[in-house]
Amino acid sequence: MTGREVTGGTGGTGGQLADTRIVTAVVTGASRGIGRATALRLARTGVRVALLARRPDALAEVARACGNAAVVVPCDLSREADVTRALADIEATLGVPQLLINNAGLFALGAIGVMPPADLDRMIALNLVAPYRLLHALVPAMVARGSGHVITIGSVADRAAFPENAAYAAGKFGARAMHEVMRQELRGTGVRASLVSPGPVDTPLWDPIDLDSRPGFPPRSAMLDAEAVADAVCWVASRPAEVNIDELRLSRA
Ligand SMILES: NC(=O)c1ccc[n+]([C@@H]2O[C@H](COP(=O)([O-])OP(=O)(O)OC[C@H]3O[C@@H](n4cnc5c(N)ncnc54)[C@H](OP(=O)(O)O)[C@@H]3O)[C@@H](O)[C@H]2O)c1
Repeated sequence: MTGREVTGGTGGTGGQLADTRIVTAVVTGASRGIGRATALRLARTGVRVALLARRPDALAEVARACGNAAVVVPCDLSREADVTRALADIEATLGVPQLLINNAGLFALGAIGVMPPADLDRMIALNLVAPYRLLHALVPAMVARGSGHVITIGSVADRAAFPENAAYAAGKFGARAMHEVMRQELRGTGVRASLVSPGPVDTPLWDPIDLDSRPGFPPRSAMLDAEAVADAVCWVASRPAEVNIDELRLSRA
């Protein structure tokens, strides 16, 4: 796959991708929240983005907003067969992408004695196994090409322990571990690996949770917004090709 220079962009931090090889990207969980904001920001810089999530209508709306031949790939990433089909769609439309953003995630709270093990299974399937499947399929081709970038969306909970957060933390600590191992494996290959770990972000992820009844969580008005995280992700992606941002943590000032 040949690269072309990325032109246009919105200016400002992350507005233009300095790594001119980034012309195609895969964003999981692109139908809303951080993934949607990141896909839109990438599209504004001229990147052609494959949008992955379950809801085709929501993805179609994001694709329209991207406005530059974004590719809609509806799939349930917690299902192996869907991931296989999505990878075939990506291969057919974008080839091997320059950028993979493993963003899709599921969050629920519950003490270990209360949350059913099936909820842990669901969170691990989406937050840990699905990213691994995409990495397993795409990273060898990036290494063979000698360029590429994988960005894992972590969380403050990939390092810190909070009550009622065992299932989510298990996936996010695991995703951070996977990232750190991958970083070691990829050193010197030309393929970059970054972890972007935000604190609480005001997205629909919080809709099912009654924050008023849970002391210790900030109100949604005091969280980061999704655009701030998208800005950070695009800044990480836009460093010169020889610079790897290993880990970036952000929280509301
Ligand atoms: N919001 C926060 O406070 C916060 C803080 C730190 C880290 N994070 C992390 O940031 C990432 C994005 O979070 P967000 O806040 O933007 O969440 P969100 O608003 O709930 O969006 C989640 C995205 O994942 C997709 N998704 C959910 N289940 C899926 C499945 N089985 N297969 C494919 N796609 C699926 C959803 O689309 P469909 O419903 O269409 O499938 C949606 O696009 C997650 O990894 C999350 O853990 C969030």
